[in-house]
Amino acid sequence: MVSLEYIAFEHNNAAAELVKLAYDTPPLAFVHSYGCQQNVNDGERIKGVLVDIGYGLCDKPEDADLILFNTCAVREHAEQRVFGNVGALKGLKEKKHGLIIGLCGCMANQKHVVEKLRQSYPYVDLVFGVDGIDTLPQLIAQKLHKHKRVLMEPAQRPVIVENIPIRRESEFRAWLPIMYGCDNFCTYCIVPYVRGREKSRKPGDILAEFKSLVEAGYKEITLLGQNVNSYGKGLEEQVDFSDLLNLLCTVPGDYHIRFMTSHPKDASFKLIDTIAAQPKLCKHLHLPVQCGSDRLLVQMNRHYTVEHYLELIEYARKKVPGITFSSDIIVGFPGETEEDFQKTLELVQKVGYMQLFTFIYSKRTGTKAADMPDPTPRKEKTDRMTRLLKVQDDIAMALVKAQVGQTVRVLVEGYGRNEDTLSGRLDNNLTVEFKADSALMGSYAMVRLTGARATVLLGELSE
Ligand code: 5AD
Ligand code: SF4
Repeated sequence: MVSLEYIAFEHNNAAAELVKLAYDTPPLAFVHSYGCQQNVNDGERIKGVLVDIGYGLCDKPEDADLILFNTCAVREHAEQRVFGNVGALKGLKEKKHGLIIGLCGCMANQKHVVEKLRQSYPYVDLVFGVDGIDTLPQLIAQKLHKHKRVLMEPAQRPVIVENIPIRRESEFRAWLPIMYGCDNFCTYCIVPYVRGREKSRKPGDILAEFKSLVEAGYKEITLLGQNVNSYGKGLEEQVDFSDLLNLLCTVPGDYHIRFMTSHPKDASFKLIDTIAAQPKLCKHLHLPVQCGSDRLLVQMNRHYTVEHYLELIEYARKKVPGITFSSDIIVGFPGETEEDFQKTLELVQKVGYMQLFTFIYSKRTGTKAADMPDPTPRKEKTDRMTRLLKVQDDIAMALVKAQVGQTVRVLVEGYGRNEDTLSGRLDNNLTVEFKADSALMGSYAMVRLTGARATVLLGELSE
């Protein structure tokens, strides 16, 4: 266990002054985040830090004086997209004198990526990893002052920085990280290497941010961590994830709480009892199983069996009537046989997930699975994926249809597919579309569920 230091972000006067001096008019920044919610939330803090030192924000890279890609490294495809998007900026850099191009996030925490940027992308000026958001003012100051590239080597800091300024994307849905990093080393996954060891925020700091969100009118607060169920490890206070949930639920107000991601090896019966007892917790559990074969779960280093997983599901169904489940599944892990895959299909059918996030295995340099023999042809893997999606579609459609007839409370959070409709999400994470005035956006509405189009519910405002 690393010994952690908790520090508070401080405004960087010198950087703000340099930014002011370097431009005739206030400069603009374009920040694009790829990947998971954790990264999106990091992107919101990056924007907050940039605004703090005098940048405005813009939606188009062409308008920007600073372009930052906040990257994801979980799958190869995501990395290729980033390299493609960075490459496409070469022309813009040549045209626009003084344009700063930066890359941060998970890819920047891999040595070979930083090396590739150093060698082959000379127009990338700024590189820093996931632990470097609070140092961004310093890095920009360095770049503006010395006119040299600032490429930070990947490093993990045993530090949690509180009070980093933030520019949230929504006024009613907020991400709230409760911990960073991951200690699990699932053999396919790059996250523990790029995001480093697990670090929990102090309950008091989380509670303070949570209260400020509720006071600001946020309705949906999603707690984030790679493995929220191991929250609390290494803290002075004896507090686990259920204790934290109970603490947050004491905050008065009209809101609900979601959380992700739960690891089945650490998801506890106590957690399920907490969901059952606390009406502010959504009746939905994202519980990534990855695959349905015990043999492969060992190869993946997941530390649970299918039997244990199903016990959790059964207990949750008994204790929390109406609860829904979602999961992540990897198809084509090295050595996956047709028999292993059949077991995944069986499990998917047994559980009856409302939603499934499915991925074809992507080899990540530096992980254990990257050295495992992987003889299955790509075509066979994509074929398995198609079969899995078909099974899941049928399950989800039946489950969604079974909801019709109820009247439910939803948070109105966006526009529907038809122009005059809005979309909202039920407590159980399903989406419903209904005709309503856009003034309802960001508030709760009662909706009668009248039908379904594939896996989206259709409804009518009921009051
Ligand atoms: N290949 C494919 N999918 C992966 N995931 C993580 N690493 C990989 C990989 N190398 C998936 C897992 C995880 C989700 C966030 O991404 O299913 O739960
Ligand atoms: Fe990756 Fe496993 Fe950690 Fe999730 S729990 S981030 S899959 S190593």
